[in-house]
Amino acid sequence: MGMIPRETIDNILDRSDIVEILSDYVQLKRSGRNFKACCPFHNEKTPSFVVSPDKQIYHCFGCHAGGNVIDFLMKHESLEFPEAVRVLASKAGVEIPETTNRSGEGESVSTRVYEANKVAGAFYRNMLNGEKGRNALKYLNSRGITSQTVSTFGLGYAPDEWESLSRYCRSKKISVEILRKAGLTVPSDKGRNDYDRFRSRIIFPIYNERDTIVAFGGRVMDNRLPKYINSPETPVYSKSNILYGLNFSKKGIREKGYAVLVEGYLDVIMPFQHGVINVVATSGTALTLRQVDILKKYTDTVVMVFDSDQAGEAASLRGLEILVENGLKVKVATLPKGDDPDSFVSREGSASFYAVVEDAKTLFDYKLDLLFAQKGKKDIGAIVDGMLPTIAKISNAVIQSDYIRTLAEKLGIHEASLRVEMGKIKSDRPYRYEKPQGKYSLPEAVRNSELYILGLSLASAKRFSLVQKELGSDAFRDPAVRTIMSEAKRIFDLGNDTTLNQAKLLGRLRDDERARNVLLQAMAKVDIIEDPDKAVRDCISCLKKENREERLKSLAEKLKQAQVNADISGMNDTLRMIDQIHKERVV
Ligand code: CTP
Ligand code: MN
Repeated sequence: MGMIPRETIDNILDRSDIVEILSDYVQLKRSGRNFKACCPFHNEKTPSFVVSPDKQIYHCFGCHAGGNVIDFLMKHESLEFPEAVRVLASKAGVEIPETTNRSGEGESVSTRVYEANKVAGAFYRNMLNGEKGRNALKYLNSRGITSQTVSTFGLGYAPDEWESLSRYCRSKKISVEILRKAGLTVPSDKGRNDYDRFRSRIIFPIYNERDTIVAFGGRVMDNRLPKYINSPETPVYSKSNILYGLNFSKKGIREKGYAVLVEGYLDVIMPFQHGVINVVATSGTALTLRQVDILKKYTDTVVMVFDSDQAGEAASLRGLEILVENGLKVKVATLPKGDDPDSFVSREGSASFYAVVEDAKTLFDYKLDLLFAQKGKKDIGAIVDGMLPTIAKISNAVIQSDYIRTLAEKLGIHEASLRVEMGKIKSDRPYRYEKPQGKYSLPEAVRNSELYILGLSLASAKRFSLVQKELGSDAFRDPAVRTIMSEAKRIFDLGNDTTLNQAKLLGRLRDDERARNVLLQAMAKVDIIEDPDKAVRDCISCLKKENREERLKSLAEKLKQAQVNADISGMNDTLRMIDQIHKERVV
């Protein structure tokens, strides 16, 4: 694996949201500007793990784990640095330019993983059509899937054997290492061969927008659990940046002007077979920002199809707000009780399916109706609390205003009072952290003044240049602080950023454990400062004073030494320097 260029890493960090990515691993709760959780790296009951969307870093006040999103993945998933970057690149949709390999063989890991997927896809297809796939084909037929559909979606079958795919791939000269990286095989313990991940399952190839297989889903043919297994995250696949079926439906989405969003593989396949040509699936998870970005290339309107179980739960609406926030028009359609898109369309046909879809309510109406049904007109407070966050996320002021008016009318309250409540939601409460109980030690030997100046100046280009002007790099005693300041200067010099991307900075300090630690401490320290511009000026003069006093102390020592040695010129020099320092103080 070649080196990944620094600009690429910066680019990946720019496009990755730490909150979104960490949400897959820890349960984050909003807390002011930041998010909190119980730390995944140590055992605790009260959350001291903080994620800052502004700084794009995380930090645990309990165990001092901290870093950017790459560090998190490395630590949490036990990945090497380049592996973590690749996972992230794939989530962020950034291509890593291929440099030459160590071996000089040229072909990148991604290319070889794609190749392995292609070979595996063909293998599974062949198996479905051969002797071993008879039952699988029967199963698919029993679910009403035509052979045309089997071929369109490239469905396949993984035989009930431990190494059938591995053997086949070996014969095709695909390495054990690449099969593993593609998630097609799983390492075995006790020195045995890797074994096939998918066995005795119907195979659903997962394609990217360009019709290339990036992963697979596999379904059992009976009631065994788990019903589905899927490829793990690989250099070419992350489940949060793929919409299943998009390669088939993108044309239809453009044609119809909206996308129908469903949950499962078969909820794409069956409607598609029946002529619903604009359907895509999230594969059973909540929609992510990355998926929203992808969708936005094709349409600005999404109709979510809920089954009636989901429809009753306000919880299922929470995820939808990120759609609104990102400028999508969101509607919600509800299927009759007991149906999912697959069963509904199979029974009722595409015209009925489209009728349900066209009958969808806007997210606003849907949520309002739901809250009315649950709370009734008596609990107006709860309805207001439920609706305002949704309205607050609408970026179009005209639409937003319209919704406020509608809500006031429906609730029979004054519009003005709703607007007051709305104002409260929007004002950004400053984030405050509770001092963690237990030991909270600063990195050794860094003066507070240095830590504060570091934290304060990194948050703003204006303060940073003030610090540069007022203090030379010599003013800092701690070598880590010096390193950080000079790396920061490089980043500030590069772009016209007004605030420094601290995740990027951490990335550059990757090999300097102590500097990273110092940086995290510094950033944590200044989180609660009310007037940072004033604070930085205070800290600058404080640091200058400390430096003067230290220099005076060491000069006094020197003077004493010169006196002992009767070194007249040494004494004179030292006295002159002492004098100089006293003068500086007056300035
Ligand atoms: N899913 C998964 N792993 C599971 C269960 C579900 O990845 N153990 C994902 C699959 O992408 C699946 C989707 O969530 O398609 C929806 O799950 P579910 O509704 O349970 O399955 P269906 O797609 O409806 O499949 P079927 O109709 O065959 O039961
Ligand atoms: Mn189903």
